[in-house]
Parts: sequence; C-alpha cells; structure tokens
Amino acid sequence: MKMKLFAILTILTTTVMLQAQIKKGSDISPFPYPLEMLVSKDKIDERIKEAARELENDYQGKEVIFLCVMKGALFFTSDLLKEVNLPATLEYVRASSYGENGTVSGKLTLKGIENVNITDKHVIVLDDICDTGKTMTKVMAELKKLHPASLKSMVLLSKNVRSKQDYHPDYALFDIQNRFVVGYGLDYKEYYRNLDAIYILGYSD
Ligand code: IMP
Ligand code: MG
Repeated sequence: MKMKLFAILTILTTTVMLQAQIKKGSDISPFPYPLEMLVSKDKIDERIKEAARELENDYQGKEVIFLCVMKGALFFTSDLLKEVNLPATLEYVRASSYGENGTVSGKLTLKGIENVNITDKHVIVLDDICDTGKTMTKVMAELKKLHPASLKSMVLLSKNVRSKQDYHPDYALFDIQNRFVVGYGLDYKEYYRNLDAIYILGYSD
C-alpha cells in the first residue's frame, strides 16, 4: 500500500516538473496551427539596445514622450523604455483594427487620444507592427492636430516588402516579409501576446 502511494506521488511530481519544463509557445497555443520562430528573444533584446542608443543620440538634451499604441506595443514599449537613457514620460492610446477572424483588417478604432497632452512636446509613437500603414497614418494625423514640437514613429516590425504600404515609420527595428506574426505583444484573436519571441503563425484566415 505504502509502495503504491509512493509510486503515485513520484509519477505526479515528475509530471508536474516535466510540464513546467515544456517550452512556452508549444504549450500556450489554443489553436492547432504551427508556430515558427522568426525573431528570437535575444535578437529582440539586442535590437532594442541599438534602438535605444539611436534615440539617445537623436534626442540628446531633449525630453521625450513615448506614446504606446496599445495593446500590441505594450511589451516593446516596456523593454525599450527601460533601456533609453533620456528624460522620458509615457502615454498611450488604444488602436484596434482586426475583426472577429483575427487577421483581416476591419474598421480602425482609436481611443484615448483625448487624454494625451503632447502640445509642444517631442513625441515618439511606438507600435508593434506597420503592416498596410493605415493605423500609423491615422494615429500620426490625429496626434499632429495636437501640435507636438516633433512627432516621430518607431515600430518593432515593418512589413515594408508590401508594395502598398501607406506609411513609412521613422524607425523600424526589423523589416519582415508579409507573413502573419504573433508573440511579444502581437496577437491572433487576442492570444499569443505572452510569447517572449516573435513567431510566424502557420495559418491565417
Ligand atoms: P496596419 O494598419 O495594416 O499597418 O496594421 C497595423 C496593426 O494591425 C498593427 O498595429 C497590429 O496590431 C495589426 N497587425 C498587422 N500585422 C499583424 C501581424 O502580422 N500580426 C499581428 N498583428 C498584426
Ligand atoms: Mg496594433
């Protein structure tokens, strides 16, 4: 009896330990689509450091407002701001453009611009990805109306291979092919944001 209990306990403990070791990514997926790593966490960290140095150089002696476009740019903003050695404050707006099916652009909604005070300030808008550029075009146009001292954009990813990209960001950390990607803030139907690297989602509808 004692032996049986001991065996069961051992199996249970081993299972829990093994599950904890299963790589995040294969484990958190609610969809049966393969994930193929495109940009590793190390590569993201490395480029964020480089981008931070570039901003420190370009904004030397200035105070900046980082404006995060939620929710996609949440992790990018967090990691970049911790790296940048400049006097900086943080604002955010919310943008959403995808409908129910997850990958096809729907109507773009922008929320929260009325709450940001950027008049006469140096503003750097941070977004996760510039795909068609529609979101950035709209965000930048709305912010411009508030008369900032300067207004620039930085995106983590740019699908600049698109022949019809409406907007070209001032800074882009990675140029990528026209594939649907998730992770590090980017979602498919709100999932996968909590992956720490960027993956190509092996399916899009
Ligand atoms: P755009 O307006 O077409 O440039 O799309 C920009 C927004 O769509 C981004 O801020 C993302 O939220 C979303 N988006 C575009 N491409 C992807 C992708 O590959 N994965 C996840 N979200 C994407
Ligand atoms: Mg977005």
